[in-house]
Amino acid sequence: MKIYVPRDAAARGLGADDVAVAIVTEAAKHGVTVDLVRNGSRGMVWLEPLVEVATDAGRMAFGPMTPADVPALFGDLAAHPKALGQTDALPWMAKQTRLTFARVGVIDPLSLADYEAHGGLAGLRRALTMDSASIVAEVTESGLRGRGGAGFPTGIKWKTVAEAKADRKYIVCNADEGDSGTFADRMLMEGDPFTLIEGMAIAGIGTGATKGFVYLRSEYPDAIEVMTAAVEIARKAGVLGASVLGSGKAFDMEIRTGAGAYVCGEETSLLNSLEGKRGIVRAKPPLPALQGFMGKPTVVNNVISLATVPVIFERGAAFYKDFGLGRSRGTIPLQIAGNVKHGGLFEVAFGLTLGEIVDVIGGGTASGRPVKAVQVGGPLGAYFPRSLFDTPFGYEEFGAKEGLIGHAGLVIFDDSADMLKQARFAMEFCAIESCGKCTPCRIGAVRGVETVDRIAKGDAGAIPLLTDLCNTMKSGSLCALGGFTPYPVMSALTHFPDDFAPAMKEAAE
Ligand SMILES: Cc1cc2nc3c(=O)[nH]c(=O)nc-3n(C[C@H](O)[C@H](O)[C@H](O)COP(=O)(O)O)c2cc1C
Ligand code: SF4
Repeated sequence: MKIYVPRDAAARGLGADDVAVAIVTEAAKHGVTVDLVRNGSRGMVWLEPLVEVATDAGRMAFGPMTPADVPALFGDLAAHPKALGQTDALPWMAKQTRLTFARVGVIDPLSLADYEAHGGLAGLRRALTMDSASIVAEVTESGLRGRGGAGFPTGIKWKTVAEAKADRKYIVCNADEGDSGTFADRMLMEGDPFTLIEGMAIAGIGTGATKGFVYLRSEYPDAIEVMTAAVEIARKAGVLGASVLGSGKAFDMEIRTGAGAYVCGEETSLLNSLEGKRGIVRAKPPLPALQGFMGKPTVVNNVISLATVPVIFERGAAFYKDFGLGRSRGTIPLQIAGNVKHGGLFEVAFGLTLGEIVDVIGGGTASGRPVKAVQVGGPLGAYFPRSLFDTPFGYEEFGAKEGLIGHAGLVIFDDSADMLKQARFAMEFCAIESCGKCTPCRIGAVRGVETVDRIAKGDAGAIPLLTDLCNTMKSGSLCALGGFTPYPVMSALTHFPDDFAPAMKEAAE
């Protein structure tokens, strides 16, 4: 009997380990030999721990499971009270286009054989037959843009590094994943670590970098454990090392742990931290692509950007580019969180409207109350009201509405949310997390909290002051922490004026 119990941190947090122990105990009682696979999560967090049993009719899902539900797994499966049916046929799964996450939840994360049996390493093998320029051209042609937040074309970044002359070059994977409500990087690393390793190896071969680092946040102990083990396995198997898959081309990598600061996700701050310095933002230029880690040309890419590279090489740039909307090509792993009925990871081509994501896929709020706002793109993202729910999910489409998609995290709020408090929180977050290098952010965020407090007390004169302050932070900050904090603040003020009402009323008088 083959049974899958996720080893994903969210599933473990919800009791997956206890369920796994109960399965082993119960199997022994029944004299049944169980092949227990600790897989990644399928992304349906509200059903975790989601247990799957392999049957002739495919994998059957059961959840959310508790140890008390385990004995019935050894009886009539169809009659199990937690039976959900075939995993792949569940609406949440059937509606997705899983390219980057195709193997997550399906395979044993630390089995290289399982990885290869599901298409793994095909992309790297193909890349090894290509020269550097063709590898970079393939990435450019795919239309892939950085999934860390800025949406910068990955091919252009790789081209800059590939064409730079230097004795050493580096690939740095940004796995700091600091945005509120996001977990795609973590899920990928815990559920399919070899995909990230393969993507980094292709990046190295394509740009002439022989060394890579994954900068992984310390708050992700499970991901650190899985990634560290996977690198070791890949090295032993010759996927990493002096001759990648026997090609004669070298690429190796290490996992490094960050100490935990939101600003250390900003690429130049991350590089400082990786070099053992304080995580403070560097002025650009020079670009990290020309002078990055240790002053050498460095590709800094998000986990999802790099983990999407293998499928692009396996299926071809044209295949990947065919999905999407406008200049947002391919698929995006949406992370649906907050006050939502069905939260989790949903990978789909760009282009669904915000309303479809929140109401149809997410199923509305968990509280059952009306949705008031959705913050898209992490703590620096704008709050979208229901009147903007027709916005299609794409970089330009959200930009046109004074928002951003960032790392594709969506945090949903019901009508009990106070948007003035949310605006204050944005300023407070910026004040706490500011690296302190530039004045608009270091001082502006502190003044921002004070100004929102004045509005809360009914001081209408503080509203134009807050708008002014936001404009200064937007145009004068050195990086997006100070530069984008105005998005949540101004969207709260613009779309939810009633929450700033006492002051608004005074201003009208
Ligand atoms: C304050 C701040 C925090 C950031 N945090 C992250 C992060 O946690 N992960 C990430 O990939 N990018 C983060 N970024 C974006 C990075 O600076 C950079 O654009 C990204 O790593 C580039 O990779 P990509 O092109 O693949 O997106 C952050 C940016 C800022 C300004
Ligand atoms: S905007 Fe804030 S975090 Fe960014 S460099 Fe300036 S002080 Fe540092």
